[in-house]
Amino acid sequence: MDPKDDPYLTWMRFAIPGWLASRNIDLMQRCITDLPGDDLPIVEIGSFSGLSTNVLRHLLRANERSNPVISVDPWTFEGASEGTIGTSTITFAEYRRFVMESFMRNTRFFSGDALPFHVETNADSFFAQWRAKADVTDLFGATRRLGGPIAMAYIDGEHSYEASRRDFENVDAALTVGGYIIFDDSADTTDWGCRQTAQEVAALSRYQVIDRQFNYCVRKIA
Ligand SMILES: C[S@@+](CC[C@H](N)C(=O)[O-])C[C@H]1O[C@@H](n2cnc3c(N)ncnc32)[C@H](O)[C@@H]1O
Repeated sequence: MDPKDDPYLTWMRFAIPGWLASRNIDLMQRCITDLPGDDLPIVEIGSFSGLSTNVLRHLLRANERSNPVISVDPWTFEGASEGTIGTSTITFAEYRRFVMESFMRNTRFFSGDALPFHVETNADSFFAQWRAKADVTDLFGATRRLGGPIAMAYIDGEHSYEASRRDFENVDAALTVGGYIIFDDSADTTDWGCRQTAQEVAALSRYQVIDRQFNYCVRKIA
């Protein structure tokens, strides 16, 4: 089904706040219908309240794919600082706790049949654990040995050039040939540093550009 016509996605998107353009959902659908293998994971960097996480899970379900989703977010927000938010009495620590609990609630509700494996750490530390094949307990209490090839990555964590470039290099080291990467906020019209990362990846002969009309979506071909 075209995601635009899927009522489940419509209602989910009413209920979960976040940053996920419809055109990213089209890119996700494009990748998920052609994922290499059913057992290799999708890795999501940057989950916030779980909108993209739950959309990924739903598209897998809708396309009868059983790939696990591994999500990564330490809930440390760009622009957040010490103290309270604006003139309110709400601290950033309380806000962080609220978003984290929202992620858990949203994910249990919309993806309770196949929860993501959520690692509450930053991307650099996650990939260090990935390389070390570490045994990890996730946010929901599940355990898993990290490491091995991955089928797809959705990169939506820290948006600077340096951080997104490291995310790419870490993903690239694990991405199987035939696997996909979507870089959120990488459109040629944006000012985010991750645009430069995506443009550099698009220029690599090892990667084929699947779409760059909006955000960059690439496929590893060698
Ligand atoms: C734009 S939001 C993600 C939006 C989410 N994908 C959605 O669909 O709404 C960016 C997220 O990246 C997380 N983040 C920031 N730095 C990170 C890092 N170094 N590693 C992993 N996640 C990071 C933030 O905590 C934040 O929740």
